[in-house]
Amino acid sequence: MRILNFGSINIDHVYTVSHFVRPGETLNSQSYQRFPGGKGLNQSIALSHAGAQVYHAGKLGADDDWLRDQLQEHGVDTSLVEMEDVPTGHAIIQVNPAGENSIVLFGGANRCISESYVERALQLFSPGDYLLAQNELSSVPAMLRMAKLKGLTVVFNPAPMTPEVQCYPLDLVDLFIVNEIEAQGLTGKSDPQSIGAFMRAKYPQAALVLTLGEKGGMYFGSDGTVHEAAEKVTVVDTTAAGDTFIGYFVAGLMRGQKPQGCLRLGCRAAALCVTRKGAADSIPGKDELDATQPHVSADTQ
Ligand code: RIB
Repeated sequence: MRILNFGSINIDHVYTVSHFVRPGETLNSQSYQRFPGGKGLNQSIALSHAGAQVYHAGKLGADDDWLRDQLQEHGVDTSLVEMEDVPTGHAIIQVNPAGENSIVLFGGANRCISESYVERALQLFSPGDYLLAQNELSSVPAMLRMAKLKGLTVVFNPAPMTPEVQCYPLDLVDLFIVNEIEAQGLTGKSDPQSIGAFMRAKYPQAALVLTLGEKGGMYFGSDGTVHEAAEKVTVVDTTAAGDTFIGYFVAGLMRGQKPQGCLRLGCRAAALCVTRKGAADSIPGKDELDATQPHVSADTQ
């Protein structure tokens, strides 16, 4: 079983700061580093680390082939990635002493995804395969529509959440994966149970995974509701923790694992991710998870 991830590819410019810069303020940073990133690229790498056969579709500026190499080095099939004569997308990321981040995006080549490109990329895939999309690319509604028409299982992570998302064909989504901010944008609600109830009533065809940061994650589906607690770790940088969770959760699901086991995998991988700096570079390998795997009962696998 294969997964096509239609995803952003960014260069992350990461600044360590004493606090997030305030309106009108000029702030010295304590360090600067450049990393490969983008929610799409991060999720492809996490999927691959978690053992999924992943194809990445997305666009890059002509000078940034090194980012395609990064995906390849992590075992991602990049035959669908294309170059455009525009700058690669980038992100300006501030990281505060608590390891929290604040991100400004520039879309660049990520906004050059046309419906015809979506159609071309999907030609390789057939019923039983998965589609994963976030909200950093153009033509997301076409991805959801065309993938569903081809019989793929559609997984949507509406990140970043924008007002347009409400107009997407969300009734075609099989699994939503959202954090609390995205959930609030989708439902207007803030407590997990109300979010789950709202989404299950409005989109009964879809399961929902809600990531809760240091409180772990929850799954709401026709087969019930499950919670998994987060592991306690020393946080260095939370960038890409959500992306790491998504890659490991979805890879588990593709292998036929139950939601509880998938949540556990996602939470464990995200816990390791936040102990390191950067986005793609902080995503743990499956061997690292296996090396520290706590005992898991067979019924949650
Ligand atoms: O989720 C983290 C990612 O969001 C960063 O890598 C940045 O590029 C933005 O897309």
